[in-house]
Amino acid sequence: FLGGMAGVGLGAVGAAGAAFSLLTGGNNNKAAAADGTLTIPDLLEGTTSDSTTTYTLTAQTGTSEVISGVTSTTAGYNQSFLGPTMKWTSGDTVLLNITNSLGDDTTVHFHGAHIPAKMDGGPQNAFADGVTWSPTFEVKDEAKTLWYHPHALGTTAEQVVHGLAGMIIVEDDSDTSAALPSEYGVDDIPIILQCLASDSSGDIKYDVTGYLSSGLSYPVLCNGTNVDSTTLGFTATKTRTRFRVLNASPADIMTVQRSDGGTLTQIATDQGYLTEATEVTTIRLVAGARAEFVLDLKDAVTLQAVVTTGWIRGGSGTYDFLTVTPDASDTPDDLPSTLNTITRYDTSDFTARTITLGQSGQNMMINGSVGTSMSSMAMISTTLDAEEVWTISNGTQLEHSFHLHDVPFQLIEINGEEPTGVDLGWFDTFEVVGGGSIKIAMKFTDFTDDTYMYMLHCHLLQHEDEGMMAALMVTDS
Ligand code: C2O
Ligand code: CU
Repeated sequence: FLGGMAGVGLGAVGAAGAAFSLLTGGNNNKAAAADGTLTIPDLLEGTTSDSTTTYTLTAQTGTSEVISGVTSTTAGYNQSFLGPTMKWTSGDTVLLNITNSLGDDTTVHFHGAHIPAKMDGGPQNAFADGVTWSPTFEVKDEAKTLWYHPHALGTTAEQVVHGLAGMIIVEDDSDTSAALPSEYGVDDIPIILQCLASDSSGDIKYDVTGYLSSGLSYPVLCNGTNVDSTTLGFTATKTRTRFRVLNASPADIMTVQRSDGGTLTQIATDQGYLTEATEVTTIRLVAGARAEFVLDLKDAVTLQAVVTTGWIRGGSGTYDFLTVTPDASDTPDDLPSTLNTITRYDTSDFTARTITLGQSGQNMMINGSVGTSMSSMAMISTTLDAEEVWTISNGTQLEHSFHLHDVPFQLIEINGEEPTGVDLGWFDTFEVVGGGSIKIAMKFTDFTDDTYMYMLHCHLLQHEDEGMMAALMVTDS
């Protein structure tokens, strides 16, 4: 598949985030002219009967221009690069028929979805080329932005960077959802940001060895279009436009902001609505994270991504990826003063655990175990309805993006400080800086299984493939 896979356990070379090759440039010096149109991923049509909606996906290979003018071998769902957006309705049942035509094992993980471990698409769900996997489950999530991507052992980075990723929008019938823009591609706009690594022949790199080869470029993409020297355009026919941003990069942090320094009205984090709409000037997304914001447009607004990483190469760049030009005369109602009720956990009786992110020479670890196989990874066992508070302690000097499957978490502490603002929302993926720590709280509800496991891992995909992954089993007692 896609030129073969390097051995896992290549190790985190450049432990201190050595600036191997500075990511410079970005297109922020050019005028913010819209010289290409934003591609909106197709909405995947399902067929519904008896409130079960069935979707068909094929993981396939193809070619795409990741670097403008250069053909890369890529992969996608039902297309050559990335995949269609799925819309799930809270309370409905979905059935997915997913066919693997990659020529290598794959899985499809529903990142952020609260579903049974057996349907979660973790490494235990790997299925071979030519096989169709058909998970089915009730959508228990409320309105939020999720995504789907492969999660087989040792090949996650390779498969995701070649394009296997798509967005999932969960809709619900809350008053808040009714009050927000929701017309897909019109006033509800998906934005998938990626920073990849490619050599000049278009060969996309996915492991540490690949990243350390010389002469690479680090193309930045918005919905699959290279925005290194192009600012995409979108004409908004409604004054209020909602954006759902996913950072599908293998490693980099994407900070979204306006080129004019103005504010974005953030309405949601990874796991749904904030308590109230919050004016922010930047939205910092680690690999795997999502956020939603709205803009009430009077004049054109240019959105930028500041791309940073402490991993391997250091450096940063600013990319004007989208200019939104209003062509609307409507006056939107005020946003609801309360978007969501978030009851903060009182963790005084919660069970405490420590999850240590570590590294030993060539290996990445959780709690001292290198999770490159199901038998070698650390296993966290808990029980249904357990209430827990975890300290995620980063014993490395590298930046990590901590992701927990199954249940949303609240942040209790970030590097010893109490969270404020949008950090009081619900998350499934959060930054843990080198040498830092976060404390998170969660409740394990609804699902038990003593054969299938959820995963917890670093969402820097190279780190995950190199072993920074552990298993979580939720049982009856
Ligand atoms: Cu988005 Cu376990 O992953
Ligand atoms: Cu990591």
